[in-house]
Parts: sequence; C-alpha cells; structure tokens
Amino acid sequence: MAMLFLGNTPVVQVGDSELIKQILVKDFYKFVNRTPVSNAKHPILCASVGSANGDEWRRLRSIVSPTFTSAKMKRLYPLVGQSVNALIDVMDTYAKRGNGVEVRQMYGSYIMDVIANCAYGIKINAFKDPNDPFVMNAKLVINQSFVKLFCNLLLREFVLNVLNLLSMKLLFNSSEDYNVDENDILESHHVTEGGDELAVDKNILDRNHANKKLTENEIIAQAFNFFLAGYETTRSILSFCTYKLALNPRAQHKLYEEVVSAVDSDGQIEYEVLVRLPKLDAILSETLRLYSSGTVIKRKASEEIKLGDTGITLEKGMALNITAYAMYHSDEYFPNAEAFIPERFLPENRHQILPYTYLPFGNCVSMRFALLLPKLVLAHVIRRFRFVWTSQTDVPLVLNKFIRLKSPKSMIVGIESRD
Ligand code: HEM
Repeated sequence: MAMLFLGNTPVVQVGDSELIKQILVKDFYKFVNRTPVSNAKHPILCASVGSANGDEWRRLRSIVSPTFTSAKMKRLYPLVGQSVNALIDVMDTYAKRGNGVEVRQMYGSYIMDVIANCAYGIKINAFKDPNDPFVMNAKLVINQSFVKLFCNLLLREFVLNVLNLLSMKLLFNSSEDYNVDENDILESHHVTEGGDELAVDKNILDRNHANKKLTENEIIAQAFNFFLAGYETTRSILSFCTYKLALNPRAQHKLYEEVVSAVDSDGQIEYEVLVRLPKLDAILSETLRLYSSGTVIKRKASEEIKLGDTGITLEKGMALNITAYAMYHSDEYFPNAEAFIPERFLPENRHQILPYTYLPFGNCVSMRFALLLPKLVLAHVIRRFRFVWTSQTDVPLVLNKFIRLKSPKSMIVGIESRD
C-alpha cells in the first residue's frame, strides 16, 4: 500500500490481494464510484455506464449488462465472423506482397468494422473505404491531439464544457433480464476466483429500478462509450499478441496445432469450443498481463470505511487505485514477470496465481465480447497465416515517451501464407 498525491488530492494505492477482494467483492457496494478520467462534464457523455456513479450507475449497468451475456455472444458470433473474413482478405493481400504490415492499423480497421456492425447496426468497410463517414468521425475521436488529451485530464470542468458529439445510433435491445447462466460463469475466469463477482453483479446491482429504459441521450452515451472503451483496448491486445507470436514461433506453432484440432467437419469452430481453447486463452491472458491497457483500477469510497486490518480508514469521497500494472509486473506475483510465459495461464497452472492479482478487465461490462473479438481473429488467422519478424520489426519495441504506457512507435510484423 502507498499514498500518492494528485495535486493536493490524496489517492491510496492498493496492490494487496486481500484488500482488493474487500474492495471488489465484500465491500463492493461502498466502492461503486470511480474517479473520472476527465474533468469534462458533457450532459450526454456523463450518462454512460463508464462515467455514471451511485444509483445512476447501478441502473445503467443493470440495463447494459444483458447485452454481453454468453447467449448474446453466440448470436453475435456470425456477425463478428463477417469482419474476420474481411480481415483475412486484407491479410491475404499483405501475404502476397510479402511486406511487413503495421498491425495496429490493420486491427484498428477490424475493430471499427466489428463495433459498427455489432453495436451500431451499420455496415461499413473500414478496410477499403477510409472516407466512410463512420470511419472519418471515429478517427476524429481516436486521434485526439495531445493538447486535447492533456486538457481533458488536467483542466477543470467549466473550461471543458464544450465537447463535440458524434451522432450515432445504437441497435441493441436492453430490455431483457440478466440471467447469469452456467456459460457466463465458465467464461468469467479472468475476473474471478470463483463465482464471487458474478454473485456480486447479480445481487448488488438492483434490477428493480422503476426506469428500466434508456433515454435517447443515454443510448447515444452508451454507444459512444462502447466505442471509446472497446477500440484501443481490443486493438492493443491483438497487436501485441501478434507481435509476441511473431517473436515466439514455438508458442505460435502450439497455438496453430490447438486451433486446427478444434475445427469441425464444416471447417468452423463452434463458439463453446473457441472460448475454452486453453492455449489461445493463455496466450491472450499473458499478453494482457504484459501490455495491459489499464494501469490502475479506480474507485472512490462512498462512505467512511476501514481498509482490512491496516489501521487505515478511508474518508467518504476518498480516491483509491488498485495498482494493476505494478502487480502484473511484479516478480512476487508473477515470477520472471517481464518474460512472455503463456503457460502460467494454462488450466493446470492457473491456481498458482494469487487471486485478485490479475484483473485485466476489472469490472468491464463487456469482458466476454472483449475476449471473443481477439479469439475469433487469432483462431481463424493462425490457420491460414504465419506471423514472422522481418528486418522492419523492432526488437525490442521502441516506445513513445510520455503519452501512454507501452505505446510503440511502430509494430511491424511479417505475414506468410501457410498454403
Ligand atoms: C481487451 C479488451 C478490453 C479490456 C482489457 C478492457 C478493460 C476494461 C477495464 C480495466 C475497465 C475498468 C473496469 C473497472 O473500473 O473495474 C473497463 C470498463 C469498461 N469497458 Fe472494457 N475492456 C476491453 C474491451 C471492451 C469492449 C470491447 C467494450 C465495449 C464494446 C468495453 C466496454 C467497457 C465499458 C462500457 C466499461 C465501463 C463499465 C462500468 O463502468 O460499469 N470494453 N474495461
């Protein structure tokens, strides 16, 4: 544990397994609120599940959660598959050309395609049409200037009250009840040490809100939030994973063998089979550990609370960070922490990881979807192509300084056809 000051605001830093369990499970209802990423208070953007607090968060979360159940994922499976096919066509072209490819750009188009298709109900072709209005507007949001980012983080609300908004439509049905089934529990191992958090999710989120419908502004807010929360995170895990596979032919070959053995007689991989492939899961888990997008998980105490037996009492409103990045890079929790060792996440070794020291999704509402996107891509792509490092591949990666942790200047990987 430690205490840092952001300006004159104290923020308690927690990296202890038992305390994290207290915060995320036992006293979850006292830590529902998060410190905002930005000081901007746009009336629509603040209505997203990622920005709301207290009862409003509970209401939004109980409406949004059913969008990401395992049953819904099965329905989305073919839709995501369409974007994967478009990606494979693009990769084919790269493989024929024989040049290396900047993987972040390639996967960026894939994620844009998937989110437009699955969350907004819009068919776009992000790979081939850079002038598509969705792609152009999305790029305006993604490629915010450093000055704008800096202002958002540091300036006070009244300075930031003017934000432009994309007008987007979200086509998802949020009126269904949230029934956690056996599949949800089996797929939840990234966050939990058992069914604990799912029970939290089920019991503490009050689903009897009088107002179970989203307003039009709230729908826009969730759509925008899905894009913001899903784009960079998913692009990052896919890119880093591809890079790591190019550098680790042995791990890549084992993955290839696993995937080939999972293909059915129609040449397909069933949803239930895909989400449980142990090596694929282990490789993604290890990539997320090394290159986690979230450096900390933020919470705020909504009432006075004692932190375990530390003798420390948080006052109401005090901020707390779970030090995710520091834990993932600690030799104490992950021996030889800087090495890429997917085996630590195989089912037979996973029990050696101390519960609550690996939380790449925190309480991400979309964890199942977030895992489905890279799994489907890797499973299909690895059957047809081999990732290799070329003379243009930076080893080690050369990182940009200052803006974001682990943001490489370039990530070029070679693609070879297996035919
Ligand atoms: C590999 C991909 C992803 C990772 C690693 C990731 C990780 C995270 C993390 C660490 C949080 C903060 C959780 C907390 O405070 O406890 C979060 C929140 C969130 N994520 Fe994800 N995420 C990913 C993909 C996605 C995708 C694809 C979507 C949407 C389509 C999404 C939607 C959200 C939303 C809406 C929240 C706010 C949830 C809330 O506050 O209740 N994420 N995510």
